[in-house]
Amino acid sequence: MGDWIRQRVDTSYTWLGDHVQQVPSAILWFDKLITAHGIGTVLEIGTGVGTLTALFGMRCLDGVVTFDIEDRCSDHTKELLSVLGVTRMDKDAHDPETVAWVCKNIARDRSGKLFLFMDGGNKEKEFALYTDPAMGLLRLGDLVAAHDCGSEFKPERVQALADARNLKRILIPQMDADKTRLAVYLKGGE
Ligand SMILES: C[S@@+](CC[C@H](N)C(=O)[O-])C[C@H]1O[C@@H](n2cnc3c(N)ncnc32)[C@H](O)[C@@H]1O
Repeated sequence: MGDWIRQRVDTSYTWLGDHVQQVPSAILWFDKLITAHGIGTVLEIGTGVGTLTALFGMRCLDGVVTFDIEDRCSDHTKELLSVLGVTRMDKDAHDPETVAWVCKNIARDRSGKLFLFMDGGNKEKEFALYTDPAMGLLRLGDLVAAHDCGSEFKPERVQALADARNLKRILIPQMDADKTRLAVYLKGGE
């Protein structure tokens, strides 16, 4: 991560023994969102080094699933995720087989609230795919978030889709104020 963001915030810190590809304030926001919305299950697209996933694993006891097209996790982090019961898979999030796996294993069979976190290779495409009502993944009160808001993920480009799918963006001024680059949506009723 070179670029403009390094000039604005400190991204050189480590978390659970490795670098995490989030600004520090994002870690606090994830923790707060999990508590405030009673999140039990997480689906993360784009594991990266997996240390953010470990936070999800510690906090969300109904189940955490994470996909990455490449394995970037250290042996230590793999072991940690395994102890936490996280399902970590080397999968392409855009592959129809991955989408079918999610439908079968997460969409139909869960009780608590879901946090869908999109941090893979094409966040807008992931947003379109995984919030599609045909997938049946999202229910009232679930949360959807995309990373790199303002650069790779432009909320205005998915606005019509978000409106059609009853996804209301929340916490915009708060996240702008501390430069957290997350776009967060709350799923409303049909
Ligand atoms: C920014 S990193 C994820 C960072 C991680 N979520 C964190 O906060 O530390 C983006 C990851 O998305 C992965 N990725 C890219 N395209 C993908 C795809 N089609 N399916 C799954 N993962 C993908 C990359 O390999 C990379 O590790």
